[in-house]
Amino acid sequence: MRALVWHGKEDIRCDRVSDPEIEDPRDAIIRVTSCAICGSDLHLFHNFIPAMLPGDIVGHEMMGEVVEVGSAAKGKLKVGDRIVVPFTIFCGECEQCKRQNFSVCERSNRKKELADKVFGHATAGLFGYTHLTGGYPGGQAEYLRVPFADTTHIKVPDSLTDEQVLFLGDIFPTGWQAAVQCDIEPTDTVAIWGCGPVGQMAIRSAILLGAKQVVAIDCIPERLAMAEAGGAITINFKEDSVIGRLDDITSGKGPEKCIDAVGMEAHVSISQPDTLLDRAKQMVMLESDRPHVLREMIYVCRTAGAISIPGVYGGLVDKFPMGLAMNKGLTFRMGQTHVNRWTDELLRLIEEGKIDPSFVITHTVGLEEGPEMYKVFRNKQDNCVKVVLKP
Ligand SMILES: NC(=O)c1ccc[n+]([C@@H]2O[C@H](COP(=O)([O-])OP(=O)(O)OC[C@H]3O[C@@H](n4cnc5c(N)ncnc54)[C@H](O)[C@@H]3O)[C@@H](O)[C@H]2O)c1
Ligand SMILES: [Zn+2]
Ligand SMILES: [Zn+2]
Repeated sequence: MRALVWHGKEDIRCDRVSDPEIEDPRDAIIRVTSCAICGSDLHLFHNFIPAMLPGDIVGHEMMGEVVEVGSAAKGKLKVGDRIVVPFTIFCGECEQCKRQNFSVCERSNRKKELADKVFGHATAGLFGYTHLTGGYPGGQAEYLRVPFADTTHIKVPDSLTDEQVLFLGDIFPTGWQAAVQCDIEPTDTVAIWGCGPVGQMAIRSAILLGAKQVVAIDCIPERLAMAEAGGAITINFKEDSVIGRLDDITSGKGPEKCIDAVGMEAHVSISQPDTLLDRAKQMVMLESDRPHVLREMIYVCRTAGAISIPGVYGGLVDKFPMGLAMNKGLTFRMGQTHVNRWTDELLRLIEEGKIDPSFVITHTVGLEEGPEMYKVFRNKQDNCVKVVLKP
């Protein structure tokens, strides 16, 4: 089959690889009908996430048609079913899965020993990601083996298009969880850094969850326009002071809730000198991540407020203002998304017409164009916000 394969920094190719096979009775194989490129894939593309190996198949936002079912998954799944696959692989049976903490399933990471050493305790297996999360082949491919398919699959009705449901596997529940983790109250201003696909989903989620107002921050005009269309007040951080504008909008109190939908690769800019220092340290491997957004959120957040972090961080950050966070009494919530904790509710919202996540798609192309589209998405060329690939 054809698949997008990681060969090293900024080197993803569309290669011929062998077809996946059932390896465990709980597996299923799907023919991928749609998959997408995620902001997390860019961290791999830039080689900022450790423990990728040349030859790894990437991609973790995908859906398709079941073409083969392992003996233990029969009864739950059959050939021909149309399913979305969550990017977190989970067993459904361990203590964390019973608490619906699926992204920290204690049994799905097949490189547990390595992950235990690095993280202290292993987290769940993830598709198309580092070997610290199991090194599972990803779904930017014609076919995908889905481990624990009997419990993880999200069945979707034929009345909805691929584009409407594809993002149930990652960015929609990610934006939703980021907003839920804020415990939004009707008096809250929710400020969201980053108007990429995750930020866009967080904006709509915060509004659906009843925030008084949502403020979206980025520097890319078309992404800010999309945020505004979704109901947010916007701040272009290249034109305006983020802290000044947020203080104005909140009568000097600061937003009660802050969401970091940017992660470890915050833009480097002369007007934000800390980002220049982070970039320099990153290049000589003294720091792995650029935490400008975290610093800004902690500074501007209202006292006793909450900081929610869906943005991915990979390792060590410097100059983290712990004194401010502690004295202001801030609450921090973060993590890879517990996708299936939210998907029944989110599928219902889509079916009821309360939201159509396909609004975020700007590019739809074949799999061979994938390597080129990584660059277009990374460079924000051609007004690119979200790329869907059709294997
Ligand atoms: N927690 C999870 O389970 C999960 C799931 C999916 C994605 N993610 C992470 O979410 C993050 C966003 O993903 P995405 O797909 O939207 O990626 P993206 O790269 O398209 O979006 C990031 C956006 O942040 C903006 N940005 C950069 N610096 C900024 C700053 N200083 N202030 C405000 N905005 C700034 C960029 O212009 C860009 O629009 C990534 O870190 C990704 O890895 C996490
Ligand atoms: Zn993702
Ligand atoms: Zn589990």
